[in-house]
Amino acid sequence: MGVLKLLFLFLLMLVSLTLPTVGGKTTLHRHRHRRRRLEVHSHLKKLNKPAVKSIKSPDGDIIDCVRMAHQPAFDHPLLKNHTIQMRPTFHPEGGILSDSKVSIKGSKSEDITQLWHLKGKCPKGTIPIRRTKKEDILRGNSVKSYGKKKPYATVKPNSIEVDLNGQNGHQHAIIYVEGGQYYGAKATINVWSPKIQQTNEFSLSQIWILGGTFGQDLNSIEAGWQVSPDLYGDNNTRLFTYWTSDAYQATGCYNLLCSGFVQINNEIAMGASIFPISSYKSSQYDISLLIWKDPKEGNWWMQFGNKYVLGYWPAFLFSYLTDSASMIEWGGEVVNSESDGQHTSTQMGSGHFPGEGFGKAGYFRNIQIVGESNSLRAPEDIGIFTEQPSCYDVQNGKSDDWGNYFFYGGPGRNPNCP
Ligand SMILES: *[C@@H]1O[C@H](CO)[C@@H](O)[C@H](O)[C@H]1NC(C)=O
Ligand SMILES: *[C@@H]1O[C@H](CO)[C@@H](O)[C@H](O)[C@H]1NC(C)=O
Repeated sequence: MGVLKLLFLFLLMLVSLTLPTVGGKTTLHRHRHRRRRLEVHSHLKKLNKPAVKSIKSPDGDIIDCVRMAHQPAFDHPLLKNHTIQMRPTFHPEGGILSDSKVSIKGSKSEDITQLWHLKGKCPKGTIPIRRTKKEDILRGNSVKSYGKKKPYATVKPNSIEVDLNGQNGHQHAIIYVEGGQYYGAKATINVWSPKIQQTNEFSLSQIWILGGTFGQDLNSIEAGWQVSPDLYGDNNTRLFTYWTSDAYQATGCYNLLCSGFVQINNEIAMGASIFPISSYKSSQYDISLLIWKDPKEGNWWMQFGNKYVLGYWPAFLFSYLTDSASMIEWGGEVVNSESDGQHTSTQMGSGHFPGEGFGKAGYFRNIQIVGESNSLRAPEDIGIFTEQPSCYDVQNGKSDDWGNYFFYGGPGRNPNCP
């Protein structure tokens, strides 16, 4: 064989090898791109139900008023024949509810609300849902993980499992009770606007209602406020809920971003911005949250403020929580991504340490649990927990005005928290 022929064969081989590869790559890339676009499109279609009316909030959100029976909950196969419970059969503050007691203790000073209220209301028979935008989903790692916490996201206080590097940098400053049978919890939570250093970090202040085993089959119902640039695309302080029945693995999500929570209220939107917000050495605002289990139907209900009963998590979503909770936690959590090798400067609460007290540090007050007799009472044997008190700390106390309370939070990075 001549050298030329060999060379020709070699070139032919090269061409036949490279051409389809190059072409294939672009096609593959285009396919991937198209698949993701379709995936995002169909996910948005599933999340955003047809609206009777849409309201544009000053913060850029669109609030869709969706017929109650069309809400995401009813995509759940087990909710196909579900009859919406329009009220709980029992309220831990008001006992058994008769028709005349459905709107609970009307309060005059409901001045804490949501920003979108400035622009309109949702009609009766609908519920307000924060519309998910394409950008919201594209900011996340994947369509599948959008609206979900990372697996194993909740900490078991004071256990050997607490490992600063093993929790994706999640840091807490919380109080908790454990070992009893709990049927609910309540707290009034001071609302702030903590600074977030990296968009993939967040800062939240919440109540956790827990049952089962951490890291395995943990059942959790959570509610509070959060600042989460990745989830919402801004730094606003927003009302949120979360639930999971398998330690954040396959089940559950924030707000109404999957089917689960059944909402009945037409005034409060999950994930909407809270307004107004507290400021340092100035006006203080707080929100009251109550979560309790209906002893008859078994559903877990949630109330915002004194008069908004938002809806419920059906009992069948859970395993342990179909019976009762075995632990309650209250407090703050942030993500410390240590992006530049230093502790993050993402703030918890007001961004100030508990020692500064009222008007400066964030607080939870009127902390109560729903005990075995289904009534609200003060928690006993309160534990407190924080991974690094020099970054975020917690101090609890008790007074006539505030009942059980605590101050919590901190600035993150500082000379003692490098
Ligand atoms: C809902 O009701 C229909 C008709 O009665 C029945 O065939 C179906 O199995 C029910 N589905 C569930 C999840 O209960
Ligand atoms: C959120 O806050 C960070 C600083 O804390 C800032 O860099 C960023 O631009 C803010 N994002 C928005 C959308 O306002």
